[in-house]
Amino acid sequence: MANFEELRVFSGNAHQTLARSICEYLGISVGEADVFKFANDNTFVQFKENVRQRDIFLVQPFSYPVNENIMELLIMIDAAKRASAGRITAVIPYFAYGRTDKKDQPRVPITARLIADLISTAGADRVLTIDLHAGQIQGFFDVPVDELTALPILARYIKDKALVDPVVVGVDLGAIKRARDLAQRLGVPLAIIEKRRVGNEDRTETLNVIGDVEGKIAIALDDEIDTGGSLLSTIETLERQGVTEVYACCTHGVLSGSAKEKLAHSTLKELIITDTLPLNNGAKSARITVLSVAPLLGEAIHRIHGGMSVGSMFQ
Ligand code: R5P
Repeated sequence: MANFEELRVFSGNAHQTLARSICEYLGISVGEADVFKFANDNTFVQFKENVRQRDIFLVQPFSYPVNENIMELLIMIDAAKRASAGRITAVIPYFAYGRTDKKDQPRVPITARLIADLISTAGADRVLTIDLHAGQIQGFFDVPVDELTALPILARYIKDKALVDPVVVGVDLGAIKRARDLAQRLGVPLAIIEKRRVGNEDRTETLNVIGDVEGKIAIALDDEIDTGGSLLSTIETLERQGVTEVYACCTHGVLSGSAKEKLAHSTLKELIITDTLPLNNGAKSARITVLSVAPLLGEAIHRIHGGMSVGSMFQ
C-alpha cells in the first residue's frame, strides 16, 4: 500500500499561473502556503494546511531570478519533509543550468549535477520535468525522474497551420533527435544547422545547412530560446539558402534580456513556445504564440498519484 494519501499541489513564486492551470485540469484548488522573503532577504515558507502523509507536488520552474527560484524550491521541499509529507515531487517544468552538464573546459563546474544533488538532499522523492536540455541529465538525480515532452503540443499546433512545403530545421547538432521527431510527426523533411558557440559569451556562429531548404518554409526547432542569438543567426543563414519564411518553435521561451525585441525586429514569421516559463518582461508580442503545458503536467501528476504509466501518454 502507498505510504501517502490525498494529492495536493503547491506553488512557489516562479509561475503561479501555471500552477493554477494545472490545478484547474486536476479539478482541485492550489494548496495554501506562504512563500516570501523577510526584509533581510531570507526566504520563509509555511504550508497553511496539513500536509502529513499527503502526496505533495511543488510547482517551480527555474525561471528568472533563477538562483532565487531554485533556493525557494529547496526550502519548500525541506518544509514539506519536516511536516511529514508522504511523498514530495518537485515539478520543474524548466530545469535551468541544463547547459552546464559536462566539464568541457578546465576548472568549470557541472552545475546541473549540483542542483540535482541539492534537490534530492533537500528531500524530494521524485522529479517531474519537461524537455531537459539533454536527456542524460535524468541520470544526475538519485530519485526517479519523469521527463515529459512538449513536442506533441508543438506538432499539433504547427500541423493545423497546414504550411505549404515546410521543412523542419534543427538549429544545432544537439537538436537533431527532437527535430527528427517533429519532422516525423508532421511528415515533412528535415535539415540541420551546424552551429558553433563562441567562447562563454552568448554568441553563436552558424556554419552550414545540412539538407535541402531552398524555396521551402522553415520550422526551426530548439529546446529553448534564450538570448535569441542562435535563432537570429539561423534565420539569416536560412534566408541566404533561399527559404521563403521562417517559423520557430521551442519548449522553453527563456527570452532573456532584449530577446523579444530583437526577434520582433527580425523577419521571423512566428515564434511558438510553451508556458513552462512565465513570459519574460510581461506583455506578449503579436508574433509569439504560447501553448500551455498545464494539461500535460496535470495528466502526468494524475497518473503519478494513481500509480499509472506516464510513458503511455506519448504512445
Ligand atoms: C543550446 O545548446 C540550446 O539548445 C539553445 O540553442 C540555446 O540555449 C539558445 O540560446 P540563445 O537563444 O541564447 O542563442
